[in-house]
Amino acid sequence: MASITIRNLDDEVKDLLRQLAAENGCSMEEQARAMIRAAVEGRAGRADRIDQIEEALRALAGSKEQAAPVVAAAGRPVVRGSLSGKRILLIIGGGIAAYKTLDLIRRLRERGASVRVVMTAAAQEFVTTLSVGALSADRVFTDLFDRHDEHDVGHIRLSREADLLVVAPATADLMAKLANGHANDLASTVLLATDKPVLLAPAMNPKMWGHPATRRNRATLQKDGIAFVGPARGEMAESNEAGEGRMAEPLEIVAAIEALLDGRPKPLAGRRIIVTSGPTHEPIDPVRYIANRSSGKQGHAIAAALARLGADVRLVSGPVTIADPAGVLTTHVETAAEMKNAVESMLPADAAVFVAAVADWRTANAAGEKIKKVPGKGPPSLQMVENPDILAGIGHHARRPGLVVGFAAETQDLIANAEAKLKKKGADFIVANDVSQESGIGTSGVMGGDRNKVRIVSKAGVEEWPEMGKDEVAARLATLIAERLKTIVV
Ligand SMILES: Cc1cc2nc3c(=O)[nH]c(=O)nc-3n(C[C@H](O)[C@H](O)[C@H](O)COP(=O)(O)O)c2cc1C
Repeated sequence: MASITIRNLDDEVKDLLRQLAAENGCSMEEQARAMIRAAVEGRAGRADRIDQIEEALRALAGSKEQAAPVVAAAGRPVVRGSLSGKRILLIIGGGIAAYKTLDLIRRLRERGASVRVVMTAAAQEFVTTLSVGALSADRVFTDLFDRHDEHDVGHIRLSREADLLVVAPATADLMAKLANGHANDLASTVLLATDKPVLLAPAMNPKMWGHPATRRNRATLQKDGIAFVGPARGEMAESNEAGEGRMAEPLEIVAAIEALLDGRPKPLAGRRIIVTSGPTHEPIDPVRYIANRSSGKQGHAIAAALARLGADVRLVSGPVTIADPAGVLTTHVETAAEMKNAVESMLPADAAVFVAAVADWRTANAAGEKIKKVPGKGPPSLQMVENPDILAGIGHHARRPGLVVGFAAETQDLIANAEAKLKKKGADFIVANDVSQESGIGTSGVMGGDRNKVRIVSKAGVEEWPEMGKDEVAARLATLIAERLKTIVV
């Protein structure tokens, strides 16, 4: 590892390091190294990790804050100033998650964006215009009929003087208004009047998110070209409830904004690509299921990377706790059978990337009622049947996409198994990864962790990629897919 130049650190960071080093009885350099290691291996909490990596990398780079790289939520390198000169109009809706937008504003501004804020009346019940104004360093807009602004039709100006409109939290109400063209307050009028891209970060109770009306509105908005980031699954702040509906974290929203605003070439524009991600859950009875340790991090990162290159990505995700990637149409499923149906309904496609860890077996007959423990009867025996092989099915399908990529997660004989899979499943290449505890990747390993080391197995041979973050694997794979698709006419 490169040596760490402590003397170049900010005084504040130096003090912190000194204090921690004293507490742990080690040198400041050892403390910085330990923090980098903990952050990279995911032993610290997410928010702490980001701050720790920032500080540690600043130390490693031996440079001042402005020039140093920082590392975002999923290990993706970002550069301070990555949103330099970009104008974001943030519309804050009335939900508990409104408090997270204070951090979002800070994160956007530290990357160089200017942030103007519109707050709905309901939003002002959750956070004050005072806090928002102080963080955005601008006045906050709240009133459609503002005498001061409307002499020159301020709502039109607000909607046009921005590069991107971001709604966070996007309430069920704001989604309904936008999907139906309502314009009865400043937020909805600005959204209707804009000619700029719009990103929604929904947040609501899982029942509200799952309601057919919200689902209809979401589908309409996606058809209208509105981008989404999240929501994720997790605990709801307000109600001791868990499920899908939690707003994406501020850094995930920042990543989505960067992806939407990056002006890089889009070699996959016009290509439809199906990606599967996460585990499947195979029910035993209404409360129990068979699952695996897949987190969906790699599959979701690939979907996001393909979308950044301009692809129209259709993601089929098993049950995961991470947010839907921005700019990707995500369908949520539970079982292998549902995943297969969802994938088939998305054909035709230019390419399909099967990253999901699909259960090989399911119970022959899932019980309709919870299986009860009966004294003296012993444990129930589960009869298993094989699940459909989604990769092989698509690899040999009459409407096979031009490029089919499979993933092989193996704990032994990695290459031999991947080569056998390549032949049997009709794939163009297999991305093989070692998911054994001995893989030496992080403390949590490949499944669930943030890093991966893959081999690309194709008829041409085996290409070994170095260990890297899952986002980096995703970016390289997306570039490889773009290269391969250039030679394929569908
Ligand atoms: C305590 C509380 C929490 C709420 N949280 C949410 C929420 O997370 N998401 C949501 O869509 N609505 C939530 N609502 C309901 C909205 O505030 C309500 O629909 C409001 O009309 C939304 O207005 P807006 O869309 O103009 O911001 C909540 C209401 C209350 C009282």
